Amino acid sequence: MPIIQAKHKKEIDDSYKVFIEKGVVNKLPSLLKKINLGQKYAIITDSKTAKIHGQTISKFLNKNGIKNEIFSFESGEKSKTLSTIEELAESMVEKGFNRKDAIIALGGGVVGDIAGFLASIYLRGIPFVQIPTTLLAAVDSAIGGKTGVDLKIGKNLLGTITQPKAVFIDINLLKTLPENQIRNGLGEIIKYGVIKDEKFFSYLEKNLSKVFNHDEKVLNYIIQKSIAIKVEVVENDEKEAKNRMLLNYGHTYGHALETMSNYTLLHGYAISIGMVIANEMAVAKKLLKQKDADRIKALLEQAGLPVYSMYKPTMKNLTTDKKSDGKSINFILPTKIGNAIIYNQKI
Ligand SMILES: NC(=O)c1ccc[n+]([C@@H]2O[C@H](COP(=O)([O-])OP(=O)(O)OC[C@H]3O[C@@H](n4cnc5c(N)ncnc54)[C@H](O)[C@@H]3O)[C@@H](O)[C@H]2O)c1
Ligand SMILES: [Zn+2]
Repeated sequence: MPIIQAKHKKEIDDSYKVFIEKGVVNKLPSLLKKINLGQKYAIITDSKTAKIHGQTISKFLNKNGIKNEIFSFESGEKSKTLSTIEELAESMVEKGFNRKDAIIALGGGVVGDIAGFLASIYLRGIPFVQIPTTLLAAVDSAIGGKTGVDLKIGKNLLGTITQPKAVFIDINLLKTLPENQIRNGLGEIIKYGVIKDEKFFSYLEKNLSKVFNHDEKVLNYIIQKSIAIKVEVVENDEKEAKNRMLLNYGHTYGHALETMSNYTLLHGYAISIGMVIANEMAVAKKLLKQKDADRIKALLEQAGLPVYSMYKPTMKNLTTDKKSDGKSINFILPTKIGNAIIYNQKI
């Protein structure tokens, strides 16, 4: 039998830079020209972000030699579906976007996930950059390369891992966020402190209130620190074989709570409760001291996040999470502030 070996050994460098600077959007024309990703850019954004920032940024870029066009969809998690991807792709084809062009994701996590997924499959893949406009997107979803959409039966079930070519974070864009969106991002930020960095956790204890006053120094610092922690964890484990799982602290329960609340509970709020529950488990297993659990709870409360829920997820709720293999669940449990472990619980 003739056998032809089709060799596809790949060694690729998907490294990218994250620019964190107040006003970096004003430097976009020169930065984009330097990385030279496309002849023109499709700015993918949602209806709200288009109004608040999209139109201004689009005009500014066009005026400064970066050809672009806005493609927007209705804001909200409900839009994170394949049909939105299809509609965006069709509009892009109609407007003549080809393989020489690129995508800019301008918005929160919903936009980032949709735009990244679209970029990874449009004409079999075109480059994209992220400009996150929510705190959660800046510290979490814009980094790490996870893209995707939801299915009716669950969140984020279709997607790819595709790294952006660059990420631009401008805290000027975050000034328009409502307070609940600031809290939403703080859930993930506190998570980073607990799993990796005690000093950062203490910094948050001292400076959290300044975030709500939009203190630029504090905001820039916590964004930088959070990204540095996420990058470090993801760097060596893009596909979540082990280390990356640490980022799921609070998420096993958190996801179940989000589903049970029919997504009325914001992600950062849900994982706040999830972290408290994980801490209770860790204390019961004598892995974590009660005083550390109390300190984490106090910081979450200080951030205005919930620490208790009326929803009580069952094992079934927990095992429908895509992170479970059906026989056991991996919980991420802290052992002290600044360290966490993967704890495999048999069902
Ligand atoms: N890819 C990843 O690694 C990853 C990680 C975490 C979360 N996510 C995904 O991210 C999504 C949640 O992201 P999110 O919390 O940013 O939600 P979102 O994108 O829905 O944004 C929240 C709301 O804020 C509005 N908004 C955005 N920027 C604004 C601004 N500057 N001023 C005022 N309003 C603004 C949006 O229009 C929306 O109404 C979920 O779908 C989640 O699955 C992905
Ligand atoms: Zn999360």
